Amino acid sequence: MKIPPAKTAVATPNIALIKYWGRRDSNLNLPFNSSLSMTLDYSLNTVTTVSFSDKIASHRMTIDGKVAPLDQRDEKLLKTGIVIDEMLRLGGYGKDMKVVIVSKNSFPGGAGIASSASGGAALVYALNESLDLELEPRELSILARKISGSACRSMFGGLVMWKRGRRKDGLDSYAEMIFDSSHWTDLVDVVAIVSEEKKSISSSEGHDITSSTSPLFKVRPKLAEHSISAAIDFVKRRDFQGLGEIVMRDSNNMHAAMMDSWPPIMYLRDPSREIIDGIEELNSDEGRIVAAYTFDAGPNPHILTQKSHLGKVETLLNKSRSVKKLLKSVTGRGPKITEEVLQL
Ligand code: PMV
Repeated sequence: MKIPPAKTAVATPNIALIKYWGRRDSNLNLPFNSSLSMTLDYSLNTVTTVSFSDKIASHRMTIDGKVAPLDQRDEKLLKTGIVIDEMLRLGGYGKDMKVVIVSKNSFPGGAGIASSASGGAALVYALNESLDLELEPRELSILARKISGSACRSMFGGLVMWKRGRRKDGLDSYAEMIFDSSHWTDLVDVVAIVSEEKKSISSSEGHDITSSTSPLFKVRPKLAEHSISAAIDFVKRRDFQGLGEIVMRDSNNMHAAMMDSWPPIMYLRDPSREIIDGIEELNSDEGRIVAAYTFDAGPNPHILTQKSHLGKVETLLNKSRSVKKLLKSVTGRGPKITEEVLQL
């Protein structure tokens, strides 16, 4: 059997402006509501090399130098193995062909920065190239979604919408670019790292606990669809005031539903709340919204702002003793193949 060539892809995380939380189908990662995100630029990235062998018994994966077993100990890793097998089958390869994956993040994993999004997107992108599958962006997005829902959005650059879809098989649940990375070059995302600890409840568990136990969650799907239409309109007009408010409200709404779950889920920590207060104060001093906070499933804030206000935002974040590092990004361009080859 012909051994496919090794390939390396780089993909980047995305920050959800209107969030995905809760799954109507946990196996296929089908959401209750659509979501909207900004893909980050290459300064935050996951690089993934895939190579192949018919001489080993199982797929092997390392992430940041650590072995990542593709089994039921971790839902996303288990699903990664399933997607690899699906792509090998699409390429006409049998069960003997195994994949060796070496993946490296430029930022801390498991701390609410979407390493599973960039990781899932980079892997699917690299496999498509190695196996010569020539899949459409929509098909790649569906494959990435099956690894981690938010990964379907990292398959594109710019401002991206993941439509929830209605079908049971998920074939209408994929992401699309709404505006490319040149639409709003003034928009900046600053991640303030306040904790690099792994979260105690994975997003996989969290999605299902919230949707099955939180009474507040019931209002979320409809609200999120409205927020997306409004947010797209604000992005279209590059209206930061409008976008900033809706982004903060959506993050607060998701975290309220998380806290309303049983057992309660609280990803925000004291430093997160301290930064929320700081942003509120900055906006109130300025008399308008110049910065907006949003949190995924972790304590590290993403602060959206515009280049003209970046200095003030950095000063504010650097004042906090809990902030260890700032990671800045403009809107990114999406995954690409690179020549770099990562070795085990
Ligand atoms: O893709 P997952 O299962 O890691 O879920 C991500 C959920 C949030 O990051 C909290 C929101 C989002 O839309 O990215």
